[in-house]
Amino acid sequence: MLIDWSDEYLIGIDKIDEQHKEFFTKVHRVYEACLESEGENVVQETLDFLKNYAIEHFRAEEAFMREYEYPDVEEHSKLHAEFLDEYSKLSDEFSDLGTGQVLADNIIDMVQNWLIEHIADADRYYATHVKSRS
Ligand SMILES: [Fe+2]
Repeated sequence: MLIDWSDEYLIGIDKIDEQHKEFFTKVHRVYEACLESEGENVVQETLDFLKNYAIEHFRAEEAFMREYEYPDVEEHSKLHAEFLDEYSKLSDEFSDLGTGQVLADNIIDMVQNWLIEHIADADRYYATHVKSRS
């Protein structure tokens, strides 16, 4: 099920919260492109946009954690790298299987659900650390 952004996902750091919202928007965009038969080029484009956004967002988060000397930054960065690996597999699958409901469902399972859990868990930890320092 596609889930809308909700303020329950806020971690209390404005610039990161804005990026998480944008991440949700991009997930929705890929999902819709998969189901609206907009053509494989459009789906590929949305998949690439989402990947680039994820890379950009993770870099910003990692720099932010370092700025605040968060002790678990390496561990957290590993979670980001694992996500990007999985995402690459999903993109490759798209090249083989094409677009449609299967890809859309995989986007939900692999991207949206990961993001929600990651925000609720790993991101909240560093947010607590950062807020205790500022
Ligand atoms: Fe993160």
